[in-house]
Amino acid sequence: MKRTLGTCYYPEHWPEDIWPDDARRMVELGLTWVRIGEFAWSRIEPAPRQLDWGWLDRAVDILTGAGLQIVMGTPSATPPRWMLDKWPDMLAVDATGHSRGFGSRRHYCFSHEAYRDEAARMAGLMAERYADRVSAWQTDNEYGCHDTVLSYSESARDAFRDWLRHRYQTPEALNSAWGNVFWSMDYSDFDQIDLPNLTVTEPNPAHALAFRRFSSDQVVRWNRAQVDAIRRHSDAPISHNYMGRVTEFDHYATGADMEIATWDSYPMGFLLDRVPGGDKQAFLRQGDPDFQAFHHDLYRAVGRGRWWVMEQQPGPVNWAPWNPAPLPGMVRLWTWEAFAHGAEAVCWFRWRQAPFAQEQQHAGLLRPDSVPAQGHAEAAQVARDLADTPDVEAAQAPVALVFDYTSQWAWEVQPQGAGFDHFALCFNLYRALRSLGLSIDILPPDATTLEGYKLTLIPGLLTLSPPLRAAIAVADGLVLTGPRTDLKTDTLRFKDPLGPDIPGLDATSIMEETFPPNAPRPLTGGGHATLWLEHLETRARVIETTTDGTPALIHSDNRLHLTTWPDPAAARRILGALAREASLDTHDLPPGLRIRDTGSERFVFNYAATPALFEGQTIAPADFLRLPLHPG
Ligand code: GAL
Repeated sequence: MKRTLGTCYYPEHWPEDIWPDDARRMVELGLTWVRIGEFAWSRIEPAPRQLDWGWLDRAVDILTGAGLQIVMGTPSATPPRWMLDKWPDMLAVDATGHSRGFGSRRHYCFSHEAYRDEAARMAGLMAERYADRVSAWQTDNEYGCHDTVLSYSESARDAFRDWLRHRYQTPEALNSAWGNVFWSMDYSDFDQIDLPNLTVTEPNPAHALAFRRFSSDQVVRWNRAQVDAIRRHSDAPISHNYMGRVTEFDHYATGADMEIATWDSYPMGFLLDRVPGGDKQAFLRQGDPDFQAFHHDLYRAVGRGRWWVMEQQPGPVNWAPWNPAPLPGMVRLWTWEAFAHGAEAVCWFRWRQAPFAQEQQHAGLLRPDSVPAQGHAEAAQVARDLADTPDVEAAQAPVALVFDYTSQWAWEVQPQGAGFDHFALCFNLYRALRSLGLSIDILPPDATTLEGYKLTLIPGLLTLSPPLRAAIAVADGLVLTGPRTDLKTDTLRFKDPLGPDIPGLDATSIMEETFPPNAPRPLTGGGHATLWLEHLETRARVIETTTDGTPALIHSDNRLHLTTWPDPAAARRILGALAREASLDTHDLPPGLRIRDTGSERFVFNYAATPALFEGQTIAPADFLRLPLHPG
């Protein structure tokens, strides 16, 4: 498959007479795709049912006429002001009970049915009008951005009650599943159940987790309404642009309804805003060396192999606490890293920097005065690279890591130790695997097979799904579970008998304890147990303990269980030993050097601001090597 490039463009921001020149320059730059439309509702429908397609028709004509392919975004992330006059109760409500306001974006509640219908109506109208000229679709924009999945509105409350009715059928069944006998929380009618905010102390964790599942399902339903509306008119692939470390809804579930997953990659914004751990100082102008890769691998799973970067940072952004300029070379490196992980396309956000409104300090490929900006030359270089070099060949990685949204919600609801976060746990182990030079596939929690993986990690999983349990039972490779895997049921109660219940491994956790960051427990082999420790009864071989003798890692045939959250040194040591046992090809990489193997090549990326040495070859800062890979 030929890898392609594109950009995000807002014709409605610019005078029409520059559109032809913009289109010509995009083609000259080597771009294939242009994404438009996703915030343009107020210009497409300036007043209810008054549609103004003229300008968008002309933009589509000019862009396609120049040879570009269009990704059309539906504009539901930005309901126009009149929509609020029509549906004053459509606003999302925060956990303190306050409505969110108009004046930016994403101010709708996913449970407001009338607005969902309006959004699906608009998606259908766009699909009907442009089906023959659009090559791909994007629904909405960045579900979850600005903390917008959870809403405590009346619409959400009513829909939650219906969701519970459907799930539990009777209040008695719900009371029993949640343990509502505790603190006299029994209900006799579903209409007595409120959302789990504004309680005096914490709500029942089963209640809170049910609300998180419900809120995720609302996003899936919301998205499906638009997907269905588009499909009535168009066969072009449909996607949504996901984000970095947004975990409030199950992306695998939305992904199942669409052909392609895409995500928006802002490495330097992420670094200071949401990357757990790592060296922020060393990577200030490059971004974290593992964070983008983690999401590339995650969204490859969400898209079942088909994924893009829909928005790629081309220069400084405007929204992190501080916004440095990328080190020269990074725009090209980030783009190639995405291709090395299998991206079909990478599109830069945005074509031209806006001179007005919220994002005026956010770089584009062009400056506001239309002169090429820093990223433009690197984009041109990538286009030349693509023309001159062989395509990237996809291949299954030798290591798998299971990542699960429900487990993220479960441990947010019931952390037990501050900072127990499924994403951070998975990401820390992912980072350790990458420091060993390994390539990784991320798998969903209902993966049906582990075939071909020499090592699989299943950390912090609330429950083992039946298919995953069956896959573990027959896995040939090493399977490492824990910490905190399979100790609870899906309503967050202890298993009976106590877990974990890992096929082929005898272990029972009889107590779990947590401890603060300044009180880690040393491990006998080096490094520390941090945050969480299960006390196991087991007949399996204990291969490592804390220095006070608590089992940290147990082993039986090719199954292992970790009872603690290892610090970076311990994670690297333990995973290194397992990787060698699994006959994986490991390296001892410095924090800035990262490897990604494809079917035929090894990419070696240097995220460091200084030159790096890899097997005798020097890699300049913000540069990479492509080495042929000889199997075996
Ligand atoms: C993304 C969003 C874009 C733009 C961009 C700025 O999160 O999808 O619309 O806001 O960030 O970096």
